[in-house]
Amino acid sequence: MGGTRVAGAGVSRRRVLQAAVGVGGVAALGGLGALRSSTSIAAPPPRGSTNRLFIPPSVTPDTALTAASGQVDLGGGTVGKALVYNGTLPGPNFVVRRGDAVAVPFTNNLDAETTVHWHGLIVPTAEDGQPHEAIAPNGTHTYAFTVKQRAGMSWYHPHPHLATASQVAYGLAGGFIIRDSVEDALSVPSEAYEVPLVIRDANVDKAGNLSYNGKASGFTGNIALVNGTRDAALEVDQTWYRFRILIGSNSRLFNLTLSNGATFRLIGNDGGLLPTAVDVPAMELSPGERVDVLVDCSGLAATQTVGLVDTNSGWPLLRLTGSGKPGGLGAVATVPAAGEGLSSDGPTFGDIAPVTTRLFSFDGMTRINGVVYDMALNSFNVPAGDVEDWVFRTNGNAPHPVHVHGASFKVMSRDGGRRRLFPWEEGWKDTVLLHDRETVTVRLRFDSGYKGRYLLHCHKLEHEDAGMMLNFTVV
Ligand code: C2O
Ligand code: CU
Repeated sequence: MGGTRVAGAGVSRRRVLQAAVGVGGVAALGGLGALRSSTSIAAPPPRGSTNRLFIPPSVTPDTALTAASGQVDLGGGTVGKALVYNGTLPGPNFVVRRGDAVAVPFTNNLDAETTVHWHGLIVPTAEDGQPHEAIAPNGTHTYAFTVKQRAGMSWYHPHPHLATASQVAYGLAGGFIIRDSVEDALSVPSEAYEVPLVIRDANVDKAGNLSYNGKASGFTGNIALVNGTRDAALEVDQTWYRFRILIGSNSRLFNLTLSNGATFRLIGNDGGLLPTAVDVPAMELSPGERVDVLVDCSGLAATQTVGLVDTNSGWPLLRLTGSGKPGGLGAVATVPAAGEGLSSDGPTFGDIAPVTTRLFSFDGMTRINGVVYDMALNSFNVPAGDVEDWVFRTNGNAPHPVHVHGASFKVMSRDGGRRRLFPWEEGWKDTVLLHDRETVTVRLRFDSGYKGRYLLHCHKLEHEDAGMMLNFTVV
C-alpha cells in the first residue's frame, strides 16, 4: 500500500519537512486501536483504529508537477481513485526561500482542462492559473515566477472554469512554504517537528474511491482527511511542534481545538508571521485560510494522546500520541512566548486613508453585486499603488470565505455578526471569512509591480464555480 504514494523528484536539499518520512509514509500503524484517551475534555477520539498521518514529500521550486488520476490509500487499507499531483494526496510540498525563482514544468494528464493557481502567492497574471489560462488535456505549461514575498504558507490547486470544486474535491491540492531570514531568526521547531496539515472533508464510495456530488450550497463530505489520511494519528516526541495548517475543504468550516483544553500558540496565518505570538483556545477557519501554530507536546507521556478536534462536526482530526522520547534534530527548547514579537514586516498602509472604497455584495450563491461571473468581463480597474478599502457584505447564504488574487490585505473591521476581528486575522491575509449579517472591510494596495487581470471570489468552491467571482485589472 505504501507504494501508491511516491516522492516526486527533487526532494528539497534545503530544510526538509519531515525528512524521515517519504515513500511509504502512509503505512498504517497497527496496534494504535486500543489507546485510552487520557485527558480529553472535548469530544474524545473514538476507539477505532487510526492510520499514520501521511506527510507529503518536500520538493524544490524546479520540481515538475503532473496532475493525473491515480490510486491512493486514504488510510483504511483500501486503495481508491482520486486526482493527484505527482501521485500523492495532497501533492508535494514546495519549500522555497524568498527571492527564489520558481519554474515548475506542469503537465495536465487529466482528461479535462485544468490550471494550477498559486493561492497566496503574488505572481504575474499569466502564471496565476486563472481560468483564462486553461491547460488542455496532455498540455503543458512551465509556471515561472520569482517569490518576492515574506515567509509563509501558501498553496496550489486547480482553478479551471466551472470545475475548480470537483477537481479539488477529487484530491488536487498541495502546500507551498516560503522561508526567509525573519523566520530563520525565530526559535521554532523544524525538521520532523514542523508538520504541514492539509485539513478537509471528503466522501468515499463503497470501493474506496473519492466521490463528489456538489450542490450549489456547497459540498460537505462525511469523513475528515488530514493530509489525505482518515482517522489520522501522529506519534509525537516530548517537545513543541509547529503545525502549518491549511483548510483545503470545498466549503466546510472547521473550528479547531485541542482535546485536552490546551491552547495553540498562534504565530502566523495566510501571509506569514503575525506581529506577535498569541495563545488561542480555538480557531474558526474557512476554506483557503492557513494558520501557523505551535503545540506543546512536552508533557505527553508515552501512549498518552491528545486530539486535534473540529468542534463543529465533533470529528477528531488528528490524534497525537506520545512516543515518550525527547525531541531530536529540529526540536527547540524554547519557542516564542505569548505576547512576544515575531515580525515587523506587517501591512504598513493601515493608517493611510483609502483613495477608493469599493463595496462588494456576495449575493445568493452565484453572484457578486448581482452579477454572475463572466470570464470576458472586467468589472473594474485598480490603479497600482493606490490604497483601497474593499467592503464585503452578504444578504444571505454565507459563510462566504472571500479571497483576493494579486495582493494580500489587512483586515480592518468586522461589523455585525461576530462583530470583532480574531487573532488569526492580524497581519497579512488573502482569505477572510464573511458570515451572514457581517460586513468585513479589508485594506489593500496592489504594489507588487505586476499589472493585469486578477480575481476576487468566494472560496466556497461551489459558489465560485456557480459564478460568485469577478475579474478586475490592476492598471
Ligand atoms: Cu484558492 Cu482563486 O483561489
Ligand atoms: Cu460563497
